[in-house]
Amino acid sequence: MAWLWNEPPIKPFRQPQEDAPCPKQTVYTISKEDQRRLAPYLPPKRDTFLTEAYRNDPAVSSIEEDEQASQHNAASKACLRNLWDNKNPTNLPHSTNQVKLMTEGLPHVTLTYAQSLDSQLSLAPGQRTTLSGLQTKAMTHYLRANHDAILIGVGTANVDNPGLNCSFSYDGGKIVELAEQPRPLILDPGRSWKEEKCEKLFRLARAGLGRAPWWIVCEESVGKAKVKERDEERITNIKDIGGDVIIVGKYANREDGVEWEKILRALWNTGIRSVMIEGGATVINDLLRERNQHLVSSVIVTIAPTYLGTGGVVVAPPRSKADENEARLREVTWIPFGQDVVMAGKVARN
Ligand SMILES: NC(=O)c1ccc[n+]([C@@H]2O[C@H](COP(=O)([O-])OP(=O)(O)OC[C@H]3O[C@@H](n4cnc5c(N)ncnc54)[C@H](OP(=O)(O)O)[C@@H]3O)[C@@H](O)[C@H]2O)c1
Repeated sequence: MAWLWNEPPIKPFRQPQEDAPCPKQTVYTISKEDQRRLAPYLPPKRDTFLTEAYRNDPAVSSIEEDEQASQHNAASKACLRNLWDNKNPTNLPHSTNQVKLMTEGLPHVTLTYAQSLDSQLSLAPGQRTTLSGLQTKAMTHYLRANHDAILIGVGTANVDNPGLNCSFSYDGGKIVELAEQPRPLILDPGRSWKEEKCEKLFRLARAGLGRAPWWIVCEESVGKAKVKERDEERITNIKDIGGDVIIVGKYANREDGVEWEKILRALWNTGIRSVMIEGGATVINDLLRERNQHLVSSVIVTIAPTYLGTGGVVVAPPRSKADENEARLREVTWIPFGQDVVMAGKVARN
């Protein structure tokens, strides 16, 4: 089997119809042993920090900050604070610092992506490049099953035609229910999403096989005024399948990045307690830079045994001090998955 292959080109977009055939779902699973090894890097499960009254509350279904949402948010903080204060080892297999971020109204953030041996995500910007094998793909679906939301940057959304749903099965049979599916989030500070390129995401949401996406845009996007003409049409398309829009923070340019803390707090307020951030490189590099890395709880990287060569999309955050590492991971585990290896760790400054 080849370890690297290029996906066929994206088909021309047609707004999926109600009766459009559902994409065929591959069922993924991983061993109990691999689940156990990944557990310390995952967010705490809802039933370990929420009282019974709130466990089954579908808190990730709306962006409205209504009475129910604020009660839910307050209850989550109180339960987490209680666990944090008592440092209950049964309920907290996680780093206590990870839980501390959650007591402060910030979701658990897991950065996860696949890279080549030369630290690249794809052969070129705008080119989808499959790096990982089937086993690590299954691992990604396991991670998706354990997060409330999946976030990708608009650069990835515009080229990868991602599905962003979860087809993981704990018993190798039934895929997790819609209620357990993560919410897809498209981070698009400059409002340049070509939602017609995300035909798969729209089709899955329409078929009830995944949640509808939320489009995250910034309040002010300098120099992007002309694309706002497209906003109305885009919002209609998103809302048409049950999605929504979150407007938060400011954005000047790609180099300066976005206001992550504001974005993450806005997500917490909607009931999202954990976010898996899947790329691309601009998003990952922005989160790993010094001013943002305290917001990241875990990093889970798939390393594929291949070199892409120069010219690809590289993960390397901007260095803040000339003579110091930008970020170091601790409590690191390396897990082989087929021909790939998965490295899981926590950001040392947390
Ligand atoms: N191997 C993997 O695991 C993996 C995973 C994901 C993606 N990829 C690949 O990575 C490539 C895409 O990476 P990318 O870096 O071009 O795109 P990206 O990170 O997905 O999105 C970058 C774009 O999104 C906006 N943006 C979103 N968040 C931003 C932030 N925090 N700071 C600054 N700008 C932000 C900017 O748009 P504006 O320019 O409009 O302002 C920027 O150009 C694709 O080839 C994709 O296939 C690989």
